[in-house]
Amino acid sequence: MASRGGFSNRLGFIAAAAGSAVGLGNIWKFPYEVGENGGAAFLVIYLACAFLICLPIMLAETAIGRNTRLNPFGAFNKIGNRRWGLVGLLGVLSGIMILSFYNVVAGWAFGYFIQIGFGGLLSEGVNYGDYFGGFVSDITDNLLYSIGFMILTALIVAGGVQKGIERWTKILMPLLVVMIVGLISYGLTLDGAMDGLSFYLVPDFSEITANTFYTALAQAFFSLSLGMGALITYGSYVGKDDSIVGAAALITVADISIAFLAGLMIFPLVFSQPSIEANAGPGLVFVALPGIFETMGGIGPFIGASFFLLLCFAALTSTVSLLEVPVAFVTDQFKTNRKKTVYFVATFIFFVGLPTMLSQGASDFFTNFVYYGGEDKDFFTLIENVFSDLALPLGGFFIAIFAGWSWKNKGFQKELYFGNAALEGTFLEKMILFMVRFVSPFVVGAIFIISVLQIFFNISLF
Ligand code: TRP
Repeated sequence: MASRGGFSNRLGFIAAAAGSAVGLGNIWKFPYEVGENGGAAFLVIYLACAFLICLPIMLAETAIGRNTRLNPFGAFNKIGNRRWGLVGLLGVLSGIMILSFYNVVAGWAFGYFIQIGFGGLLSEGVNYGDYFGGFVSDITDNLLYSIGFMILTALIVAGGVQKGIERWTKILMPLLVVMIVGLISYGLTLDGAMDGLSFYLVPDFSEITANTFYTALAQAFFSLSLGMGALITYGSYVGKDDSIVGAAALITVADISIAFLAGLMIFPLVFSQPSIEANAGPGLVFVALPGIFETMGGIGPFIGASFFLLLCFAALTSTVSLLEVPVAFVTDQFKTNRKKTVYFVATFIFFVGLPTMLSQGASDFFTNFVYYGGEDKDFFTLIENVFSDLALPLGGFFIAIFAGWSWKNKGFQKELYFGNAALEGTFLEKMILFMVRFVSPFVVGAIFIISVLQIFFNISLF
């Protein structure tokens, strides 16, 4: 075990797992999905998914990881069988594909940091919507920033779990929260802020469609880094005397809180700018924030650059966890040298991300790549739909089934007792089992079927 590395203590694991969870999913993706899916009603469903479905699966992943001390593929092979190994393999593949596009978006955040801090982006008369469109279709900028980002990720992962991952998270996440709270206070003073708040906080349930459920579910998986074994991998570095249950609850609350705050920050800012619509899609934060930073005058560029820099760090602790999965897979299964593996896998994933980068206007072929669900989709959307929206809930479904039903000799329960002996025989334990066995798989299964019909066949059940 020592040679494999481990977190220094329970807080180390919590910091790293929370660092993995908190990222672009919370600050970039969550707000625009709320905006596209009708506001507060989406928020309510999202919260229900996170606590009722995802939290139990987080326990399952972490327990599997700690018990086996292996990557997802190795873990399922060890305590399951060859067929379960496929679930692990799907996870490793999803990790690779998610990182391939995540790194591109992280590159955008990095680019905005540079452009706001040093490129004089914030100046009067700039149309930030047009700017964003131009920026994402500019292949030179994209290449530069995303190469930079992948190198940073690889350097941290090569540094090892403990030194690399833990340290940054503990310092930079609190700073990000301070920044967001500052922007919330500023936003609330602007005209239109109250409309933004009511959009975000007062649910209108007539807005809900089948689409709302699957988007909320997929987003909860993505934001909590679940369904592909990232937490199996991180769980494999957790000590036997740490309580998994308390840790998972803390991680979930931390992640959800930061997403919630990001919404509280964005919507007043969006509604205070008449030119921006809440349903603007993936450009939402990149368009809404610069306009606000510009209104701050002289300190605008400083605040703006700091914000995007902190966002980059949040993304970095997430890319690190994504890269860690295929790296752990290769080093565990093929006994390769860890450092070399890191650089090889990172390079490979960078190349896998190139079509995504080209799909935002740079190349026609990748921009209108496939037709399904009633419209042309770009390559980025395809990868996101398949490897994030579908593969993560599917993986989560199997993880819950495995822990709840298939893991022999009460393996799941026994693993939870380590570091938390008092759990045995309690109501909480029964609850956890009930959720893992029935609630998570059933709800995920149902929503999964709905989403496949919806995304690929454009059939809405309600
Ligand atoms: N949760 C991260 C975010 O919200 C992204 C992420 C990191 C992730 N590791 C993951 C998503 C593993 C799915 C699986 O930005």
